[in-house]
Amino acid sequence: MKSFPNFLLSLCLFYGCQSPRPDPVIVPAAIDAIIGQDFFAFKKDALIVYENGLKDAALLLGQYTNRPTAPKNNPTQPESAVVFAIDNALSGEHYKLDIDKTGVSIKSGSVNGALRAVQTMRLLLPEEFETPQSDKGSAALPFISIADAPAFSYRGMHLDVSRHFFPVAFVKKYIDLMALLKFNVFHWHLTDDQGWRIEIDGFSKLNSVGSFRDETLVGHYNDAPAKYDGKPYGGYYSKDDISEVVEFARARGIEVIPEIDIPGHSSAILAAYPEFSCKDHSDKVATTWGIFDAILCPKPETFEFLDAIFDEILPLFPSKYVHIGGDEAVKTRWLQCPNCQALIKQNALKNEYELQAYFVQKVADMLDSKGKSIIGWDEILEGGLSDKATIMSWRGVEGGVAAAKAGMDAIMTPTSYCYFDYYQSEKESEPLAIGGFLPLQKVYEFNPIPEGLNENESAHILGGQGNVWTEYLDTPQAVEYMAFPRMIALSEALWSGSKRKDFKNFVNRLERFKKRLDALAVNYANHLYEIKGVFNDSTSEPSYSLFTSLEGQCIRFTTDGSTPTAKSLEFKKPIPIRQNTTIKALVFQEEIPVSDLFEQKIQTHLGFGKTVIVSPNPHSSYSSGGPKALVNGIEGSNKRFGDSEWLGFWGDDVSISLDLGEETDVQTLSTRFFNSNGQWVYAPKTISVQADGQAPVVMTIQRENTLVTVRVPIHAKTRFLKIEVVGFGMIPDHLQGGGHPAWTFIDELIIE
Ligand code: ACM
Ligand code: ZN
Repeated sequence: MKSFPNFLLSLCLFYGCQSPRPDPVIVPAAIDAIIGQDFFAFKKDALIVYENGLKDAALLLGQYTNRPTAPKNNPTQPESAVVFAIDNALSGEHYKLDIDKTGVSIKSGSVNGALRAVQTMRLLLPEEFETPQSDKGSAALPFISIADAPAFSYRGMHLDVSRHFFPVAFVKKYIDLMALLKFNVFHWHLTDDQGWRIEIDGFSKLNSVGSFRDETLVGHYNDAPAKYDGKPYGGYYSKDDISEVVEFARARGIEVIPEIDIPGHSSAILAAYPEFSCKDHSDKVATTWGIFDAILCPKPETFEFLDAIFDEILPLFPSKYVHIGGDEAVKTRWLQCPNCQALIKQNALKNEYELQAYFVQKVADMLDSKGKSIIGWDEILEGGLSDKATIMSWRGVEGGVAAAKAGMDAIMTPTSYCYFDYYQSEKESEPLAIGGFLPLQKVYEFNPIPEGLNENESAHILGGQGNVWTEYLDTPQAVEYMAFPRMIALSEALWSGSKRKDFKNFVNRLERFKKRLDALAVNYANHLYEIKGVFNDSTSEPSYSLFTSLEGQCIRFTTDGSTPTAKSLEFKKPIPIRQNTTIKALVFQEEIPVSDLFEQKIQTHLGFGKTVIVSPNPHSSYSSGGPKALVNGIEGSNKRFGDSEWLGFWGDDVSISLDLGEETDVQTLSTRFFNSNGQWVYAPKTISVQADGQAPVVMTIQRENTLVTVRVPIHAKTRFLKIEVVGFGMIPDHLQGGGHPAWTFIDELIIE
């Protein structure tokens, strides 16, 4: 190997190399990394050599860097700059990467370890290498010593290509970005009510009929009346497309798991082949979102159909797993179908849930006989199931916990941490999304291992996955906006695990990583300079504080309604709130505003900043504002029930006690409830409010809009108000979330 003395580095012009850069940005953070002072010159003609078994890793690095590769010990090879060597002491994806004056040494026990090292190498190279126009000239690689391995063996990203369809070129870009972040599973959601997206020869109507819909909903699913665009929409991947993607992923050490979502989410299948439905139903490829009654009837011809479909699909996917969906299967038709009811009797099943288990078991056996294991959404646990399945826990972590306790494997993808179709910012100007609120920090804090599992049970939690459902994402750019940067935060939660850095450290690296995302032409969301506020009731009087995710920023603010300038007050200490106040703020760098305008109205009222007790506690996923969020003068977002101003309760009735501090003349209590039924959120049945010595005033709640405002007349002198909220209860079976308790979300309690 050739060494490259330090003094020559200053002669960069001579060598055409980059000037030495600050510490490299490594995401996900390596478990152990020691960075040296010096640099190795990775010259344009540098040779990459590899030992037996590591050729794919060398080829990939060769491809990223435009440098030649050769097997090690090829007698004609010149001195090498990079050596991929087998080290049998390193298992799985474990790798060691050392750069010193002799060059780059990569050691691993398997090609997958070497492939992860290639991605770390990529992070050590200048960002410019990522651009198509780069000549990938000589580059200075920092001396470094890394020993690295993942916390979790399953690190997945999902993409829904049914609701919207994305070209192969984009799917490959997505997979390459996954590889960069050391994800190792691509979950390809290929079928759903809104379109079947994989070529099938034996049942060609799946494509000619099932891959196309007449039109698509415009706006949000909750908007009334619904509007449609009137434009036919569709497409599917040919078998060659699929093979191209699978090979592209394989070359990066990424397994592709196809999902064929059955027995529900099957409108597109049944539009093409109504004969696999319970009798007399006709379905069309869905043009709107949500869930549908369409469900496969578990009759012999349906299983023959599935057998034939899998025989066509499986040769395309070397993965050990096939995802068979199983989520949100509405049982209404099974209840009414003589065939289904006869099957329930014949097999001594208790109900339609056990019939779903029967269906899934038959598919699991079918796939087992073809050498595959199944993954299913956590609904497949309902009605009992064999230990052959791996559970993907999405409706919370409970499904994964139940699976692990039963000795089954599980992958954690709870909506509250892993659904990247949820809003990521509280800004009203964000692109339309399904709802919810999942900010970057919450993703970063995700731990796939829930509390309460012992060591053996925890070993069944294989890892986690980010899900990108695309109802509201109709272009690659829209997908990138929702996936980035949250997918980067998730990569660190899954790769670095308990050894991850703190969020501030992550954000500071992310700020510098943006340059690489720019080079890769990723349309990421950029909320790092976004100003956030927090209400304080621990100070001597109610006050409000401002901050950004990035440390050390200069935030200037006003309270007189004007837009802040470089001369406005800098935020240094909490702002006292004594009357109705509008705080406006901007981040300034050298007198130039670099953030969007932050604006927060605070409306004081008789309950403002008073003592409030809530029972039971809000659900841990939706409690960030704490009880004080009910009386801090700040309304929740009109679109994001997951923000810190809404408090969420899952299935519980809620009792609230408000102490006004002294006897007060109260006329009304007003509040708002969120009502977004597609996400299982329902305005409650009733609210009652009781003043001291008075009978409670009970109001029944009308549930018409997404935001439901109630105004309860009180007209009493009282110190205490006792508020009881009776939730919606169980969601009916035929609706999304059927059979589960509804969520209740409560906003500010305004006392006047
Ligand atoms: C799902 O989000 N229906 C798995
Ligand atoms: Zn049936």
